[in-house]
Amino acid sequence: MTTAAASTTGLPIDIKPGKLFIADKFVDARSGKTFDTINPATEEVLTSVAEADKADVDLAVAAARKAVDEGPWATMDARERGRLLYKLAALVDANRDEIATLETLDNGKPIFETSNVDVPQVIDVLEYYAGWADKIHGDTVPASGNFFTYTRREPHGVCGQIIPWNFPLLMAAWKLGPALACGNAVVLKPAEQTPLTAIRLAELVREAGFPTGVVNILPGYGPTAGSAIVNHPHVDKVAFTGSTEVGRQIQRESAGTLKSVSLELGGKSPNIVFADADLDAAVQGAMAGIFFNQGEVCCAGSRLFVEESIHDEFVSALADHAKQVRVGDPLDADTRMGAQVSEEQFTKILGYIDAGKKSGAKIATGGERALDKGYFVQPTVFEGVKDDMTIAREEIFGPVVAALPFKDLEEAVARGNDTNYGLAAAVWTNDIKKAHRVAHALKAGTVWVNTYNSFDAAVPFGGYKESGIGRELGKHALDLYTQTKAVWVALD
Ligand code: NAI
Ligand code: MG
Repeated sequence: MTTAAASTTGLPIDIKPGKLFIADKFVDARSGKTFDTINPATEEVLTSVAEADKADVDLAVAAARKAVDEGPWATMDARERGRLLYKLAALVDANRDEIATLETLDNGKPIFETSNVDVPQVIDVLEYYAGWADKIHGDTVPASGNFFTYTRREPHGVCGQIIPWNFPLLMAAWKLGPALACGNAVVLKPAEQTPLTAIRLAELVREAGFPTGVVNILPGYGPTAGSAIVNHPHVDKVAFTGSTEVGRQIQRESAGTLKSVSLELGGKSPNIVFADADLDAAVQGAMAGIFFNQGEVCCAGSRLFVEESIHDEFVSALADHAKQVRVGDPLDADTRMGAQVSEEQFTKILGYIDAGKKSGAKIATGGERALDKGYFVQPTVFEGVKDDMTIAREEIFGPVVAALPFKDLEEAVARGNDTNYGLAAAVWTNDIKKAHRVAHALKAGTVWVNTYNSFDAAVPFGGYKESGIGRELGKHALDLYTQTKAVWVALD
């Protein structure tokens, strides 16, 4: 690992205090409250942001309700909705460097990633759903009797969307793209740690010319603003990405008003390497699987199962590579791992590393904080891990991987599946039969073969078991954001 500290003086872009975006206007919270958002690489405050709570949620939901019930949005041609989404994508593109910098400052992830992954994927997702807007349609159905029977795919109405801090703008795009393509209005709450790019997106929503109230953005905290969205009687659907614990709570709370709920939650994904794999590629894949985005990835390959015969050699190659990762100033184009998002996450990760050491697992590399200032953690590889250790069971959400030797395919699959989570998994082998057998046997919403963390706007993503409900991206997300109406017309 090599390091370089982040500069604590002078920012490369201007950052204004953040406001709420309600009914096409930037406003203060009714309460007048604000909160600070920090740069986790320097621990310094970037700016203050208006803090929404229930009163603001009421206003935003009323604006969204009006937009879907009586506004121009309700009767707008589907193709026109698509054009607005294309325009939004083009505006993100036109401001891509500034947006990447803003995301890096607020979240701590390297500019290399925000420029090459986050922002391009935001544009891609918005364009992908722009293309869907006028291709969402029902069927004619051959019902018995003399009827003309057809279905319509109608929007739910008002969608509450609550997103996390690990891919702040990309998660906003995953939520807004399909919801708007389907004709819904949205009240979106970014995470309190990273509100700035969602607020910037609100400016672009306005510039693109979406009708009033179609998109409302409410920075604020979960138990106040988030919970008010979940419990609001005029919110028809809730989409959430975040912790499994809060996902459970959201599902319980939304039972009160029987909302449609989709959840994308945590993971402890198995990354399984067989001895017959291309080992250089598998080492790269294991690196990407756990160190991309500082390990703050719901589908991180945090349980690394390695076939016994190559285990020691593989772990030592992985540790060598991990030592080379350039950790430090996220604004430096050469940096490959930035800061964890917050002191809370930083402390939580170091706590897990401690627990790993105490439980008898061995550090192959890393295991400490990196740098003296900022929430940096060394890329960390544990070996000698047992399946029942905390570091092999709980989501760490940091750059910490547990290596676990296995004997054969059956054992790898059984142990890979021995978790309450089921978001993703990967298998590395050059044996095509083995690859498919394992892919089919793993209980996960995504299985990667000889790759890791591959994503595309067209490919569905979501969890088995306690990793979630529903599939985002692809045409699958259209199911989340529409409901089907059957229309019967008597012909005699
Ligand atoms: P969290 O689940 O509390 O936060 C995610 C979002 O939910 C934020 O916008 C937050 O304000 C909101 N929220 C929190 N409580 C809420 C409530 N009662 N009602 C409605 N909305 C609420 O996650 P947190 O505390 O930031 O991170 C804790 C752990 O969760 C992480 O260490 C990680 O393991 C996991 N996580 C998983 C993510 C994923 O992508 N699946 C993303 C973020 C965190
Ligand atoms: Mg922040």
